[in-house]
Amino acid sequence: MISPIEMTNSISQYLQDPFLRRLYDDIRAVGPIRPIQVDITHVCNLRCDGCYFFSEQLDQHKAPKDEAMFDGFIAQELGRGTNFVTVLGGEPSLMLGRLKKIYDTFSMIVVTNGVRRIPYEGFETMPIAVSVWGDHATDTRLRGNGKVDVFAKGLKNYKDDPRVTWYYTTTPGNVHEIESVVSQIIDNGNYVGFNFYGDIAHIGGDVDHRRGFGQVRREIDRMIERYPDKILISSYINQVITTGKLFDDRWGFDVCCSLSNNIAKNQERFQNGKPYLPHFRAYNPDLTTTRACCRSDAWDCENCYDSWAHLTWIMLNVEQHLGSKEDFTNWLTTTYMFHLASRIGDYESAIKLLPEIHRRLSYLREREHGADDQLADIADLVLEAL
Ligand SMILES: C[S@@+](CC[C@H](N)C(=O)[O-])C[C@H]1O[C@@H](n2cnc3c(N)ncnc32)[C@H](O)[C@@H]1O
Repeated sequence: MISPIEMTNSISQYLQDPFLRRLYDDIRAVGPIRPIQVDITHVCNLRCDGCYFFSEQLDQHKAPKDEAMFDGFIAQELGRGTNFVTVLGGEPSLMLGRLKKIYDTFSMIVVTNGVRRIPYEGFETMPIAVSVWGDHATDTRLRGNGKVDVFAKGLKNYKDDPRVTWYYTTTPGNVHEIESVVSQIIDNGNYVGFNFYGDIAHIGGDVDHRRGFGQVRREIDRMIERYPDKILISSYINQVITTGKLFDDRWGFDVCCSLSNNIAKNQERFQNGKPYLPHFRAYNPDLTTTRACCRSDAWDCENCYDSWAHLTWIMLNVEQHLGSKEDFTNWLTTTYMFHLASRIGDYESAIKLLPEIHRRLSYLREREHGADDQLADIADLVLEAL
């Protein structure tokens, strides 16, 4: 384990680089984040194939009808020191009054399916993550019950809306659609972030996560090269989520940092010496019960590629990233990316740094490319030998 003095020394050495200094100072100015996740309602206007919310029957925890109970929940979380809320559901755009209360009280981000527009008035600077699962045909099949072009509705509702970053859940068998989806979103005047489908309902075929996300990773990296001012995921985050590896650690319950602090089984995990978010809770729609983690009570991490959970995993493992300037840059840009996506701090000035962030991580893309070339060389040799 690295001592506090060694830690400070390496950080000061890396921060002689003015760009890294700028990122670091911005992050320090914001201070510690004490996050929770809230399902604001159990109701949804879609039934997406294999959505974890319905697969895990989280809709059985009904949202309180009583507004005073909702206000009490906000007061309770303020009292606990919560300062950041990820709002999910169910569909948050169906609960605008409650969404506004959260917006007026905390730093936050809302995830919506895009079918119903969150108005501008009253929600002027709200970070809105609009979900999409593929190009029009795939998205209609998976989210629109084969009938409704949900992606088209989202594009129309959020045309040129500066609040919006799309949250594109990619699937291993539909890599060829990524470029089209990304360019439509950018032409629509929005940013693009990525998420990765976990096939918890065992649908299989093109959405089977067991096929691996290697090709998806390379295509996302290509999108970063192509649109460095519009893509809100870094090559490092992309790599960690799709490989499930962080230095010598493998993704799973033992290392996940986003576990509710008031669930008995999680206490074992908190004792293992790996970092975790001591404040975190994932509230079910009843606002009273919590589940084990962002997704479920099952502690089944094999199918979890949750971007926020992986982002947190990187962010809390600062110590592991102090060994070299490259590692530190990976950590710092990841943390900055979280701030950008959540519009924490001086967003207007910070977003201008996005292309330089991607440029700093170009070595990761070159390395990946090099590995591809090597594989191609080996394949050629094998073919020649046959
Ligand atoms: C459960 S939804 C609730 C918010 C909102 N109704 C929506 O559709 O965005 C939250 C997020 O989880 C994503 N999601 C749902 N099931 C998933 C799965 N099996 N794998 C990966 N992401 C999933 C959705 O795409 C969405 O971005």
